Amino acid sequence: MNSSVVVNMRIINSVAEMKKLRSTMKGTVGFVPTMGYLHDGHMGLARRAKSDNDHTVVSIFVNPTQFGPSEDLSSYPRDIPRDLAMLDNEGVDIVFMPAVAEIYPPHFYTWVDVEKVTDCLEGASRPGHFRGVATVCNKLFNIVQPTRAYFGQKDAQQCIVIRRMVADLNMNLEIIIFPTVREPDGLAMSSRNTYLKPEERRAATVLYRSLALAKEMFSLGERDTQKIRLAMIDLIKKEPLVERIDYVSIADGETLAEMDVIKPPAVVSLAVKIGKPRLLDNTILE
Ligand code: PAJ
Repeated sequence: MNSSVVVNMRIINSVAEMKKLRSTMKGTVGFVPTMGYLHDGHMGLARRAKSDNDHTVVSIFVNPTQFGPSEDLSSYPRDIPRDLAMLDNEGVDIVFMPAVAEIYPPHFYTWVDVEKVTDCLEGASRPGHFRGVATVCNKLFNIVQPTRAYFGQKDAQQCIVIRRMVADLNMNLEIIIFPTVREPDGLAMSSRNTYLKPEERRAATVLYRSLALAKEMFSLGERDTQKIRLAMIDLIKKEPLVERIDYVSIADGETLAEMDVIKPPAVVSLAVKIGKPRLLDNTILE
C-alpha cells in the first residue's frame, strides 16, 4: 500500500495550514493524537471519534521530547503509507502530520509540567516523559482546537495526566477515555509489540493473566493490596522470559496514590520488560 491510495482524506503538514483549515470547520471536531504505526487500538479511538463528531482529525507525530536519551526514538516503528491507508479507509477527514521542526522550532522554551501524578509509575521509570506528553498534547490541542480528544485506557497514567492538565489549565475540550483493545489472547495492542520475538510474544500474555488474577481475587473479596500484588508478582516470575518487573501498582484512580486497602475505583497497573520492549497494562477495580 502507498499514500497514493488515499482518496478522501486531507493530509496536513504545517501548523499554519492546520489552523487555517480548522477555522473553516463547523460543528464538532474529534481528535485522536498518535505516534503512528497504527493498530486496532488506535483505530478504535478513531472510529469512536468519528461516530461522536462532525469531523475527525488524527495526528501522527513521533514526539521526541517524551523519549529519554536511551529510549527507542530513532527505532520507533513507522509505516506512514500503511497508516494513511488505514485512516482513509476508516473515513477520517484530516491527518495532521507535522515535521519535528514544525512543532519544536529553534528557541522553543515553554513546557507543561503536571506535578504529583507524574512522580510515580511511568513517570518514575521515564523521567521527563510526561513533560513531553503534556507539552505536545497542549500544543496539538491549541492547533487542532478539538471539541473532544480521545485517549486509550491502555496508558492509564497518561489519561490521568491529560485529564489533570485539562482541568488545571481550564482547557476548552472534553477528554474521552476509550477501553483497552486486546489481542484474542488478552495482550494489550501496542506498536511496541512488534519488537517481540515469537516466544516472547507468547510470554507477554503474563501481564493480562496477572491482571485477571487481581480481578478474580478482588471479586472474591480480597481487599489487601499487598496480597494481590504478591500473587501477581509470583505469577509473573514463573515466566522465564520476563527480564524485569518495573512495578506492580494498585493505586487511587485519580491521584495514583498507592493503596494498602482497596477503596474502589482502583487502578492496577504494571510494567514488565520482556525481550526488547517494556510492556504496560492495567485494569480498573470497581
Ligand atoms: P501512541 O502510543 O501512538 O497512542 C496513541 C493513543 O492510542 C493513546 O491514547 C493510547 O493510549 C491509545 N492506545 C494505544 N494502544 C491502545 C490499545 N491497545 N487500546 C486502546 N487504546 C490504545 O500515547 C501516545 O501515542 C503518545 O503519548 C501521544 C498521546 C500521541 C503524545 O505524543
